[in-house]
Amino acid sequence: MALTELLSELDRLSAEATAAFEAAADGEVLEAARIDFLGAKSGRLKQVQKGLGKVDKADKPAAGKRFNEVKKQLEAARQSAAERLAGGGPSGEALEFDPTVPGIRPRLGHLHPITQTIEELTDIMGRLGFTVVEGPEVEDQWHNFEALNIPAAHPARDPLDNFYLATAKKMAGKEHGGWLLRSQTSTVQIRVMEKTGPPVRVISLGRVYRPDTADATHYPMFHQIEGLLVDRHVTMADLKSVLRLFASSFFEDDVHIRFRPSFFPFTEPSVEVDMSWHGGWIEMGGAGMVDPNVLEAVGYDPEEVTGFAFGLGIERVCARRHQIADIREFFKNDVRFLSQF
Ligand code: FA5
Repeated sequence: MALTELLSELDRLSAEATAAFEAAADGEVLEAARIDFLGAKSGRLKQVQKGLGKVDKADKPAAGKRFNEVKKQLEAARQSAAERLAGGGPSGEALEFDPTVPGIRPRLGHLHPITQTIEELTDIMGRLGFTVVEGPEVEDQWHNFEALNIPAAHPARDPLDNFYLATAKKMAGKEHGGWLLRSQTSTVQIRVMEKTGPPVRVISLGRVYRPDTADATHYPMFHQIEGLLVDRHVTMADLKSVLRLFASSFFEDDVHIRFRPSFFPFTEPSVEVDMSWHGGWIEMGGAGMVDPNVLEAVGYDPEEVTGFAFGLGIERVCARRHQIADIREFFKNDVRFLSQF
């Protein structure tokens, strides 16, 4: 076979194969074209290869070189056609982009219902003039107990009722005698009053920890909102009206407040706060007038100022509002549950 004949055969094959690969509209057509041109057994390139043996000996290097070039070029053309069909290559994007096809909607997250509740509570209390303060979740015994009028022998300090830290010994300051995960946000009352003089009007929202068995209304980690107001002539009537305003704003309804006599070492008198909602009463937390011993512990004069404090469970408030029967749902991380809020 003459060299020129073989070369023009290769040129024709190259042009036809390239055009076929470029025109392929789907994977099946492309695969058919590949078998037709590049098929290992009887592809058209294979046929030309057979002709290589027939060219004159002197022409063999030139023929072989050109054959290899065309083979490489066709493999590259097939490859780029495959990428185009997969939507990968730049030419592919230009060809395949169809602005009329609906887009892929990314799944948007949103704030956890407890976080949403914390923001709402902050907002409502902000309108009543309370500013937000924060305290540490790892506390010393002075702030968690002592300053709150809970002395050393008090049952509330029992290791079975608190998460004392394993490193307590190492961290223990002599005056504080060991560290624990705070069991209530009332600790923040002390931290605020130690730093600033009266008047005080703050809320604190955050996590607290107790070795409670998880059930529909308990979890070992939960959130509380603490409120503290200290000034001249503060009375329980102020406490009740603040809590009532707070509850009607949060539940967007004419919610009533009920005080039941109770006991907390750091308030005197102390009450349990119930709220009426859909015909029933539910316990939301504790409250009372700040005990004079607490005011003294932070250097306030109980003859000068009085104050009230309250502490509500945020999971319970949120569960009640959304009619969730079991607060454990909040912590399962189940998107089907969380996406409802
Ligand atoms: C207290 O923690 C007091 N510090 C409240 C307080 C503040 C009283 C200021 C007076 C002045 P108590 O232990 O009752 O009180 O808890 C308050 C609320 O937290 C409860 O009414 C309940 O709503 C919520 N709570 C308590 N334990 C759990 C728990 N394991 N899981 C979820 N919520 C809880």
